[in-house]
Parts: sequence; structure tokens; C-alpha cells
Amino acid sequence: MKIIVAGTGYVGLVHAAVCSEFGHEVYAYDNDEGKIDAFSSGSADEIIKYVNEPGLTDIIRKVHGKHLFFSKDLPAIVDGTDVIFLCLPTPPNMDGSTNLTFYDAAVNEIGANLSGRNDQRRVVVVNKSTVPIGTAGYLKSVLQRHDVKNFGVASNPEFLAEGTAVPEARKPDRIVVGCETEEDFITLRRVYAKFVHHVQTKYIETTPETAEAIKYVANTMLLTYISFWNGVGAKLGEKIPGINIDDLRLGVTADDRISTWGSFVSNGAGGSCFGKDIASLIYQLRTANVNTKMLEASFEVNENQKVYLVDRAITEAGFQFNTKTVAVLGLAFKKNTNDMRDASSIKVVESLLGKGVARIKAYDPLAVEAAKISFSPSKNVLFEKISYHDSAKAALEGTDALFISSDCEEFRGLSRTIEDTVAPPYLIIDGRRMIPDYESIIQKGFMYLAVGSMVMGGK
Ligand code: UDX
Repeated sequence: MKIIVAGTGYVGLVHAAVCSEFGHEVYAYDNDEGKIDAFSSGSADEIIKYVNEPGLTDIIRKVHGKHLFFSKDLPAIVDGTDVIFLCLPTPPNMDGSTNLTFYDAAVNEIGANLSGRNDQRRVVVVNKSTVPIGTAGYLKSVLQRHDVKNFGVASNPEFLAEGTAVPEARKPDRIVVGCETEEDFITLRRVYAKFVHHVQTKYIETTPETAEAIKYVANTMLLTYISFWNGVGAKLGEKIPGINIDDLRLGVTADDRISTWGSFVSNGAGGSCFGKDIASLIYQLRTANVNTKMLEASFEVNENQKVYLVDRAITEAGFQFNTKTVAVLGLAFKKNTNDMRDASSIKVVESLLGKGVARIKAYDPLAVEAAKISFSPSKNVLFEKISYHDSAKAALEGTDALFISSDCEEFRGLSRTIEDTVAPPYLIIDGRRMIPDYESIIQKGFMYLAVGSMVMGGK
């Protein structure tokens, strides 16, 4: 199959790479010349500046020039194409609706090029990145306006999590395909031939609208599940004496019907999808006059979770942040990524600065460079108070308190570093319950305040 993947962000580049591994002739197209040059260079350092997914560079090096080609010249590659996957950024507007500016620009460019093709081979244009329900229909109207001949539209959402996108794309739990004609279903089956009858992969064919909705419902369900644990489980552990959140989690998730994923209480779920998708679904349902209270509560619990530990430090631990120096460990939205989008650390840092801290000493194993952009003093002059360090120990030195804001594995062994680097009185705020041996540091006089527990130690 000849495939164009338009848009080479994390969704598009992973999809292009894995499709080319299956032997398809794949053209990864982007109008950002810097990106195309970086990917074409084959240099790991250049590629991860844009997309940092374990395993991705190896695939690109293996197939580039054989099955995978990078292009910034759409007219040169459009002839003879079977499928065009649209993997474009769809950021949120202030009211939660989806901003389709990038999408519109790309679709119009593709429409103009498809109508000027030399051949009239059938082409299926597929929405792969998350777009509002009904966008396949809108896509069809735009292509018709450009007088494109012999085309179909489809929805084929991706469900990959960052950090594990390559193995998940190679062995997906599901492929969801929404088409309007049998001919187009057949084309998509050929793209995913490896998975159509695979025992591990559910291959689901449905309407474009249902496919679009599956993505929103899946992400919203996952966030709501996390919010349930943060809004109910964690609060039980924090407010009712004698409740151990870790045992509560083990007991509840022993039921096969209840997932362990999502049961790990946290200072909020971040990333490029959850917040944006639930806001968009709320907007779409409100537009259809549906009561969205449940989704609003899920969103609100998650947003509140990002900052409430700073407030608990004041009200429950009696800590005054004014003029203090605080270490913040874990800047990306989760471990194994440098992605800062919607990271809880952003709200943590803003909240600490709002409480008058003198200095923030920050560390993340992967995300320091990305954090420097998110916390650029050109956006907020208070960000000048942040310094960046190349280890957790260096960040801890000379601080009065510590805030752990992500689940990087290396934080699990932090207790000895804490004991060796800082001395009580000292407050540890643990947004991810990353210190399993917290009892021993409490015995040494440290105060420990974690999501899911009452304040401990410090006496
Ligand atoms: C998510 C979905 O998992 C994926 O299917 C979808 O395609 C895109 O959005 P991703 O954004 O990569 O993937 O992150 P994920 O691993 O799901 O984590 C999201 C957030 O939830 C992170 O901040 C994570 O730390 C948090 N989380 C996760 C919890 O707070 N507790 C948990 O138990 C699990």
C-alpha cells in the first residue's frame, strides 16, 4: 500500500514508522522543514528533539529510504496513494471545544493536491488524531468542495500511551476503523492485514462517528477512573484515621473487573490527551443538550488534585512557603517522557510561586530542557526563581521542602538521598507516593505529606 501520513508529531511519526515496518510504502509528510530534516538525518539526537519514543529511532534507521520516506513536498508524493492518515495537532480552545485551525489548513492543502492528481485511483483519507465526533463527515464536505474524485473518508483513532507507543503500535489491543463503504473497509484491512485476524488484537469495524466516539469515551473513562481514586480513595486515606490507601487499593483491585491501572493516586493526571479530550467531550455533549455533571466532576477533581497538596502543606502540616526554598522533582507529566503538556508540575510550580517561595530547585531525568521552555521567564517573570539541576541530590541541597510531582522510578530510592542531603525540620510532599519506606524517614524526624495519607512525622 502507498500511504501518506500527514503530520509527524508523536502520533504520526510512530504510525508512519510502524506501518513502514509492515512493508507498506510510507511517506511521512510535514510542512515543518526542521522536523523533516531532523527525521531524514537518522540522528537519534535530532529525532528525539521532536519525538522521544523508545524504539522509534531504531525503526527509522532501519526502514528510512526503503519503506519510509520523509517529505515536505505534497504534490510530489500524492499520485498513486491508497490511504492518507491525518495526524494533526488539535489543541483545545478556551471553552473546551477543539481548535481545528491546523487540521483545516492541512485538509484544504490535501484537498487541493488530491483534486490535481494525475491518476484517479481511489484514496481513503483517514482521521487518526483525535477530532470531534462528526469530523469525518466534515472532512468529506471539504474534499467535495475541492472537487476531489474517487475518495472515501474514515476514522481510525489511535490509543497509544507515550513512552510505550512503539510496542503498543506493533501489538495493539484494538484497531478501530469507521468507514462509509465496504470498499474503504477493505482498503483499511489491507493496511492492518497483520492484525485483522490476530488473536491479541480486536479489529472493530463501525461507523465513522462511533469510531470517533470510542476514542473520547475511552480517554474520558480512564481519566474518570483516576479521578475516582483521587477523589474518593485518596480522600478516605487523608481524612479517616486508620485507613491505609495502599491496602485499600490492593483489596479493591483484587477484583478482576477493577483495573489496577489508574488506581495509583496522584497529584493529577496530565498529558496531551486526557484534559483536552474530556473538555472537548463536555463541550460536544453540552452542545447536544446533555447534562455533563459527571464529566465536569471528573475534570474538576483532576484539576484540584494538581494543587491541593500545597494547600494541605499549609493547613495540615503548618508549613509556611513564604521565603522558603523548595525542590520539585519530576517535571514531565509522567515518567519516561520529556513531555510537559498539561504536566501537574506546572500547577505545582505556579502555586508555590504564588505562595511566595524564594526559590525552586527543579530536576527531571528527561524533561529539564522542555521545562525551561514551559517555565520561560518571558511567560512569567516569577519563573526566574527556578533553577535546574542534573540530579535529585543537587536539587535537594539547601532546600526546606521537597515536592515529588511525577512517578519516575528513580525517586523510589530517594529516602537515603534525603537523609544524607537535608535535615529536619523538613517537609516532604509526595504527589505520587514514591517513597515506599517513608516510615524510616519519619522516624528520623522528617515530616511526610503524601496524596492518600494524613500528615506523618515531624515531631
Ligand atoms: C493516555 C491514554 O492512556 C492513551 O490510551 C491515549 O491514547 C492518550 O492518553 P498518555 O497521555 O500517554 O496516554 O498517559 P497515561 O500513561 O495514560 O497517563 C496519563 C496520566 O495519568 C499521567 O499523568 C499519569 O501519571 C497519570 N496516572 C496514570 C495516574 O495518576 N494514576 C494511574 O494509576 C495511572
